[in-house]
Amino acid sequence: MSFDRSLKIAPSILSADFANFGQEIEAVEAQGADWIHVDVMDGHFVPNLTFGPPLCKAIRKHINTVMDVHLMIAPVDPYIEAFADAGADILTAHLESGPHIHRTLQAIRGAGCKAGLALNPATGLDDVEYLLDMVDLVCIMTVNPGFGGQKFIHSQIEKVRKLRAMIGDRPIHIEIDGGVTPETAPLVAEAGADVLVAGSAVFKGGSVSNPAPYGDNIRAIKAAVQG
Ligand code: DX5
Ligand code: ZN
Repeated sequence: MSFDRSLKIAPSILSADFANFGQEIEAVEAQGADWIHVDVMDGHFVPNLTFGPPLCKAIRKHINTVMDVHLMIAPVDPYIEAFADAGADILTAHLESGPHIHRTLQAIRGAGCKAGLALNPATGLDDVEYLLDMVDLVCIMTVNPGFGGQKFIHSQIEKVRKLRAMIGDRPIHIEIDGGVTPETAPLVAEAGADVLVAGSAVFKGGSVSNPAPYGDNIRAIKAAVQG
């Protein structure tokens, strides 16, 4: 995985057909997905439950791009090895998931994955400063984590702009997660984001037997950014 700051769309399989993950992933990659975003929720850190390492391992063989695993769980550390073994390329932990996020990020890199740091909408950037040499990606949540299909929180655009300035020349991705649409994508891309997670905006209108809307939806987001 070499670093590049070009615009990437990472469809979240939270909005895919749960009975058909393998085919859904292959379909959305064929339709232009740059990464595949996998939302892991524990019913404790967030008020929703999704899936764990065995599911990640099972879908890994269908992913030819980048497996971007977003851990909405607390604690994180006991599960890092299992998600690394499941084949995650990027493991993103929340800054709010515990008192020792520095140790968590070290453990993620130690397990051979790229390390991501996610921030809830209420979390400021102060605590990110001394973690920048520990991360390959910072994920700014533009909804409260837990569910797809929520409304984009506009106050986060300024946070993206500040983060972009803090990062400078470091090879760190800025990822946006939540409420990304052709309307909101240009706002965060202009502020400095390069990875846009999108669930409902990518999967709407399509299915494994009719995947063309996935491609139309991805192109609509990219076209809105690129003008
Ligand atoms: C929210 C998840 C997101 C979500 C995005 O907790 O982290 O990845 O699935 O879904 P949309 O794009 O529908 O807001
Ligand atoms: Zn996510």
